[in-house]
Amino acid sequence: MSHARIIVDRDFTIADVSPRLFGSFVEHMGRCVYTGIYEPGHPEADDQGFRKDVMALAKELGATVVRYPGGNFVSGYNWEDGVGPREDRPVRIDGAWHTIETNAFGLHEFVEWARRADMEVMEAINLGTRGVDEARALVEYANHPSGTYWSDLRREHAAAAGTSQEPFGIKLWCLGNELDGPWQIGHKTAEEYGRLAQEAAKAMKLVDPDIELVAVGSSGKQMPTFGTWEQTVLTHTYDEVDYISMHAYYQEHDGDAASFLAEAVNMDGFIDGVVATIDAVKAAGKHTKQIDISFDEWNVWYQQGLDTEDQPDQVAKEWKSHPRLIEDRYSVTDAVVVGTLMHSLLRHGDRVRIANQAQLVNVIAPIRSEENGPAWRQTIFWPFARIAELATGEILRLVVGADQQPTARHGDVDVIDAAATHDAETGALTLFIANRGLEEAADVTLDLRGFTASEVLRAEVLSIPEGGDRHTANDLQSQEAVGLVPLEGVRLGDSGQSTAVTMSLPALSWAVVQVKVA
Ligand code: AHR
Repeated sequence: MSHARIIVDRDFTIADVSPRLFGSFVEHMGRCVYTGIYEPGHPEADDQGFRKDVMALAKELGATVVRYPGGNFVSGYNWEDGVGPREDRPVRIDGAWHTIETNAFGLHEFVEWARRADMEVMEAINLGTRGVDEARALVEYANHPSGTYWSDLRREHAAAAGTSQEPFGIKLWCLGNELDGPWQIGHKTAEEYGRLAQEAAKAMKLVDPDIELVAVGSSGKQMPTFGTWEQTVLTHTYDEVDYISMHAYYQEHDGDAASFLAEAVNMDGFIDGVVATIDAVKAAGKHTKQIDISFDEWNVWYQQGLDTEDQPDQVAKEWKSHPRLIEDRYSVTDAVVVGTLMHSLLRHGDRVRIANQAQLVNVIAPIRSEENGPAWRQTIFWPFARIAELATGEILRLVVGADQQPTARHGDVDVIDAAATHDAETGALTLFIANRGLEEAADVTLDLRGFTASEVLRAEVLSIPEGGDRHTANDLQSQEAVGLVPLEGVRLGDSGQSTAVTMSLPALSWAVVQVKVA
């Protein structure tokens, strides 16, 4: 049995919870759009061809903001190809994923899908093969009311499709995608990208001054240019942009589950490094405004080292529309890691104000769907859905004292990983907690300072199901093998008016415990 003690204090808060921390991502990649969110002819398709079963799961997931249309895809994309009458839209080659893009689904369809799903649109522009002019045209097309070339074209297309002619009102825009990466179409040096992003940002804000802009940061902490990229890009763009992006994907290497379960330590350090760089540029440039972080791609993604049956194609082998790409099947272990990555985002909620799990459906996704078949929740759906639902109010600063777990990649780490929020309006204090120990249960005491707990409102846990192991997953045949079950034995102390909450977490588990506090 391992042990941990967590102290929370009503006065020690990090920030308000930004609802945009619970974002997702829809890329024209694999089967995320086609046979994911969009499949005309499916028995569950609505009048627009959107899958109602997938839409219902997306709403249950609770994603708040959704990035579109890429990803690597966007760096070779012409947004104009995806608007207007379908029969006139060109079929194109997508070089990023070696795929045929029919353009049957484009901007109008996505905006309508997001409206029905109750999600904010976060639109990425192409700064790989395109530039300032196409960027400002797109903002005019999307957000200008009427009476100009592009806004009237939007109205004409919307009228023909029978949808609203009103401006889309898109606030959040990404100034390209992963342009620090040599794999990116139109890859650039930091100097080249910084200047282009600055001019694109300026032109876009001249069309609509109310938009918020995200400059491209590093594609990962492992990038050789990490640090200097951010410094150069922000030196050029500091006045024009509002956020800098971060991307990170994690996987288990060579069966080293302990290190994998501690990857939130890596994410913590990555965020701290970007914050330090932003603030150094702020100081050197004598700026007063604060730039925050948009962690607009993060997840578990098995990119290397698995056998062929388990490792889905990374890039399509032949030219075809919507091939199966990176349809990772997530295990109990992956769900626990996803929970801890979300804890890291919450712990940095004063500077990470937007985050998007990549992606929403089929492609490294919490939701899976089959063409002409069912849709279901992967294991990683559960921590995301609960955190998106229950993390409200203010993020609390935790002091954690826990037994240590040795790891090869991160040294000794706390066996427990946690984050917590307090909602003064509802009186709910919510603890999100993972036991990264593979063998031992963990006894945890939550010490409350300045709070008195009177009732356990919710206690649920995801762990290895009976008869399963840490690799157990939900799949087509067994869609509900892994899920949340009640966490028994959460105690408030004898009187029921307590300043401590105790619980025992099974080995390898993620849990949520919500108590009523005054
Ligand atoms: O989400 C999959 C891919 O990962 C995205 O297209 C790209 O931006 C990143 O490398």
